[in-house]
Amino acid sequence: MDLPSKVTLREVAPRDGFQSLPGFILTEQKIEIIEAVARAGVKEIEATSFVSPKAIPQMRDATDVMRGLPRSGCYYSALVPNLKGAQLAIEARVDNIVVVISASEAHSMANVRRGMKASIADLPAIFSAAKDQGVAVSGALAVAFGCPYQGDVPHEDVLALTEAYVENGAELIILADTTGMATPPRVESLIKSFKGRFAATDFALHFHNNRGTAMANLFAALGAGATIFDTALGGIGGCPNVPQAAGNLPTEDVVYMLEDMGIETGIDLVSIIEAARRLEEIIGHTLPGQLMKSGPRDPQLSAGGCILNPATA
Ligand code: COA
Ligand code: ZN
Repeated sequence: MDLPSKVTLREVAPRDGFQSLPGFILTEQKIEIIEAVARAGVKEIEATSFVSPKAIPQMRDATDVMRGLPRSGCYYSALVPNLKGAQLAIEARVDNIVVVISASEAHSMANVRRGMKASIADLPAIFSAAKDQGVAVSGALAVAFGCPYQGDVPHEDVLALTEAYVENGAELIILADTTGMATPPRVESLIKSFKGRFAATDFALHFHNNRGTAMANLFAALGAGATIFDTALGGIGGCPNVPQAAGNLPTEDVVYMLEDMGIETGIDLVSIIEAARRLEEIIGHTLPGQLMKSGPRDPQLSAGGCILNPATA
């Protein structure tokens, strides 16, 4: 299998993770986690989303989060569902806007209360507003691997939506398995279709673990040529408009596996585990990530109890 020598991990816990929690995480705690992730070496962070505070109250402090972040060396994205969100994100000086549109009509109605066509109609205004201010725009496709309401999502629908993003000048396309319905052959086959039509377009994969297949999907995607992945500290995450939403791939688990396979992530394993443990403290319950429980494989790192969790040591 032909595997890449390095990958980019986009950290999405501050957006996908915090939006999925029942309670509101304080702005200063959100900033603390983003800073800890950046210190561990993560270079791209989806810091928040500019969405209706009535729809997703957990993200109501988006502007304050952006205002509180240090501006050195890290590339901050924010998710937006519409033009209003893009305008607020640009005002808040994000580096990159991630527009999200569902690849199924049913999820679109549930998530943003309008159909795909209406969302696509916003794209020229969003891209032009961002371009005027030198802000990059990426296009995310929710439910690209299956929809909890509709079932299978045809490749043709994914490619048509990608086309709309690419025509408008998207820098990166994010194929999201919002509902954890993907399996390795589905991942390989969608990537193949994607590359067949958009050979020159950068793409990322965003996997949820609702059915336990997320890490296998990442491995399949690596083999199919993917080099950019969304992961979330501690494995938190989930779309509030998906029944039984489950977490993202835990950043620290992915760093462990990839580095051990000789694939460079640029992220320090010990520091990212420490960040995940701090996140668990803030949230106040056990998170899905495994490395924060088992520790890395190097026995030296358990000396003095600095890294092994005392509960499992
Ligand atoms: N950011 C902040 N406020 C926004 C907004 C945005 N991006 N878009 C709309 N609003 C405000 C409007 O100004 C309006 O405010 P008002 O009541 O004070 O006048 C209110 O929200 C309703 O606006 P409307 O355009 O009617 O939106 P809606 O109620 O139909 O909701 C969305 C549509 C898209 C704004 C909402 O469903 C949403 O934010 N969804 C995000 C879902 C999400 O983040 N899912 C997880 C990630 S995939
Ligand atoms: Zn997600």
